[in-house]
Amino acid sequence: MTDEPNAAQRQFWNSDFGDKWVTFQTDLETLHAPMNTPLLARAAIRPGMQVLDVGCGSGSVARRAAVLAGGGGGVTAVDISEKLLDTARAIAVSEQSAHVEYLLADAQTHPFMPASFDRIVSRMGVMFFGNPVAAFANLLHAARPGAQLSAVVWRRGDENPWFSIPTGAAIRHLGPIASDPDAPGPLAFANADRTVALLTSAGWVDVRADPMQVILETRGTAAEAASSVGSLGPAARIMEAKGATAAQASAIVADIDAGFRRFETDLGLRVPVTMTLLSATAPA
Ligand SMILES: C[S@@+](CC[C@H](N)C(=O)[O-])C[C@H]1O[C@@H](n2cnc3c(N)ncnc32)[C@H](O)[C@@H]1O
Repeated sequence: MTDEPNAAQRQFWNSDFGDKWVTFQTDLETLHAPMNTPLLARAAIRPGMQVLDVGCGSGSVARRAAVLAGGGGGVTAVDISEKLLDTARAIAVSEQSAHVEYLLADAQTHPFMPASFDRIVSRMGVMFFGNPVAAFANLLHAARPGAQLSAVVWRRGDENPWFSIPTGAAIRHLGPIASDPDAPGPLAFANADRTVALLTSAGWVDVRADPMQVILETRGTAAEAASSVGSLGPAARIMEAKGATAAQASAIVADIDAGFRRFETDLGLRVPVTMTLLSATAPA
C-alpha cells in the first residue's frame, strides 16, 4: 500500500467489489433512487449552473443534474473507480442522456478549477475520504462564492435497518470486529454532529445535517435481498475481515433474510431508513 491519499479506497473501488457494484448496478439503482428527489430538491439546480457530482458511481445523480442544468450549464462527475465510471459512460450512451463530463480522480486532492461550481452534489459518495476536512476544503476551493453543497449520507445503525440487520447477523455468527467508527467507509458520517464539525472546519458555512426518511426499494424477496447484501454490504465486509466459512456465510444470509422479511410487500422489499441530508454554503 502506498502513502498516496485514499490508496486503500482507490484499490477497494477498483477491485472485485467495484465489479460487484457493476453487476448489481440495476438493483442498486432501484434501491437508492428514492434518495434522488430529496437530494435534488435541496440542491435546487437551475438552468445554466455548473454542477459537480462527487463519488458519482454509475452516474444516476449526475445524469439527472445535467437535465436540470440544461444546455447552458454543465455537470462534471468525479469518481475514483474506473469500473464505475466505465459503467456510467455506457449507461449515458445507451440512454442517450444529457452530456456529463466524467472525471477519474480523487475528489480529495484533484486540482479542480478554482471557483468553478455553483452546486456540489453527492449521493453517498463523500464518506470515503481519508482526510475529510482536506477533501471538503478542496471542494470548497472548487466552489463559487455562495455555492451550495448537498449530500446524502448514511445515518446511525439503529436508524438504518438496511445496515443494522446484516451487521447484527454477521456479528452474531462471527463476533465483533475492532473498527474505528469514523474510519472511511459507508458509516463514516453516521454521527451527524461530527459531520457538521468536519464541514465547518473545512470552511463551509450554514452547515446542516437534517434527518431524511426514505424507503429503500428492491423488486425481489427478502431472501434475494439478503443474498445480495451478503455479498456486497456491511455483512460482506465483516465476513471478509473474519474469513467466514461457507457454512457461516449461509447462516448469516439466512439470518438477514429472517430480519428483512418484515419489510416484504407484494411489490418487493420496502425498508424505511433515516439518512442524513447534508447541506452547506461556500462563504460569499
Ligand atoms: C457508495 S458509492 C455511491 C455511488 C453513487 N454516488 C451512487 O449513489 O450510486 C461511493 C462512490 O464513491 C467513490 N469514491 C470513493 N472515494 C472517492 C474519492 N476519494 N474521490 C472520488 N470518488 C470516490 C467510489 O468509487 C464509489 O463510486
